Amino acid sequence: MNSIHDFEARNMVRMALEAQERAYVPYSHFRVGACLKAASGAYYLGCNIENAAYTPTICAERLAMFRAAYEGEREFEALAVVWDGDRAAMPCGVCRQVLSEFCKPDMPVICALSAEEYKTFTLKELLPEAFGPGDLK
Ligand code: THU
Repeated sequence: MNSIHDFEARNMVRMALEAQERAYVPYSHFRVGACLKAASGAYYLGCNIENAAYTPTICAERLAMFRAAYEGEREFEALAVVWDGDRAAMPCGVCRQVLSEFCKPDMPVICALSAEEYKTFTLKELLPEAFGPGDLK
């Protein structure tokens, strides 16, 4: 597995916590932050940005991913996610699918409650048997 050391995991969670402060959440008041590390070594941050029409809302994880993809990044080492919830942050199903377009199945996803409390899953654990580019003929 592409494992990630605790030091780096905590570093990424702290960056996700900073990103969380930028959340635009006038409807849910539920703040989410994400930090995605590319193979280049660059970090891409995201927060959720809501919309009065509700469905155009973008999650923190997808904003981080799309910011990275726009910059030309195509390989990733890890993702950290934080939210305001009572348990460790878990990416929604849509974000899991978007991540699986670019990230390898063994990429660690650090699901955090705080910089001290988090658990790490592989993307494959979060989205087994994912539909992906290889399925299209
Ligand atoms: N949200 C995220 O940003 N990421 C997730 O993985 C779960 C949900 C956001 C979307 C919306 O702004 C708010 O949390 C409530 O659903």
